[in-house]
Amino acid sequence: MKIPQSVLNLAFQGNIKNEFSGNSGKVYLVENNAAVPKYIAYKSCKELSEHSLELFKEEVLKWNSINSRYTVPIYYIHLICGEYYACMRACDGSLEDFLKKKISEVAAFNYSLQIIKGLIDLDRSSIKHHQDFNPQNILFEDLSRKWVGFPPGNIDSSHRYRMMISDFAMSNYYIKDQVAGKSGGKFPFKAPEQYKESEITNFSPDKFSLGVLLCLLFTSKHPCGHSASQVLKKNPKKLKTSWETWAKEGQRIIDISDSKLNDLILRLLSVEPLCRPSYEECIECIKKLYKDKYTNDFETSMFYIDYFDKQHMDWPREELKVRVN
Ligand SMILES: Nc1ncnc2c1ncn2[C@@H]1O[C@H](COP(=O)(O)OP(=O)(O)O)[C@@H](O)[C@H]1O
Ligand SMILES: [Mg+2]
Repeated sequence: MKIPQSVLNLAFQGNIKNEFSGNSGKVYLVENNAAVPKYIAYKSCKELSEHSLELFKEEVLKWNSINSRYTVPIYYIHLICGEYYACMRACDGSLEDFLKKKISEVAAFNYSLQIIKGLIDLDRSSIKHHQDFNPQNILFEDLSRKWVGFPPGNIDSSHRYRMMISDFAMSNYYIKDQVAGKSGGKFPFKAPEQYKESEITNFSPDKFSLGVLLCLLFTSKHPCGHSASQVLKKNPKKLKTSWETWAKEGQRIIDISDSKLNDLILRLLSVEPLCRPSYEECIECIKKLYKDKYTNDFETSMFYIDYFDKQHMDWPREELKVRVN
């Protein structure tokens, strides 16, 4: 049954302000009528087959198992007319919004540090592979909307954004099924081993996608040579060959003057998953370069990261609550 919007508004006790549709889910951004926070978001299943409902339930449980400041917080499941709605923090947009404009180098450092922290946290929880790591699934919150006077005028305005990885629909699919479960990923971010016919036996696609993402953040270009806006379109600009050929044997064009960062991205884009560096190595390399180039911004960034991380440490996720009207 398709629940009418008027019924959803009643159940949410707010008004649906926006709707987003991805591959598997439907997301509602809701303005609360009386309660704080002012906005909240709900994700539900696009299809109502038994199979998709089962997958949605799995997604929610995987998501709730993560304890990280750099993933979108999930609050509870709302059961409305027999359908599940995952209630979560409302975000202000996705990394795609930033990548379509010019990103300053300080901002690229701030975003990438948080995003890699998120990947480390996923790995430390039960999410070994996200499998659909791309800018549409990296959301942000603008903290200046919450805290008056933040960030102070003397620091770069990009410090206002908290980055959060989201969308765990595809995650760990490989662990569940080592054949069908290799798939996933948007073409410009898809690792060689995610293609069906691939003979690569190891699996580490998020690192490859991170390589693409870092190249976009620091150069505004995809390592195939296309601009960020050309590859982030719904139907990305075609390559002379195919995305599969590019992933497996295409030239990596990375125009970064710092040779260590250049080399790090190149290694993340290795065809062989085992040749890709660890997230810890990525974060150390980026921190060092950030510190050398912009010491004050680096220290501000580390202050916020350490401060907020402390609030998360040692707090296991609670069992997910179900709310029934
Ligand atoms: N918490 C949120 N706040 C605001 N927008 C969101 C939120 N979660 C998702 N969205 C938007 O909805 C889109 C689809 O959500 P996503 O979880 O990625 O679903 P799918 O599995 O269908 O891709 C996202 O790309 C983003 O634009
Ligand atoms: Mg998505």
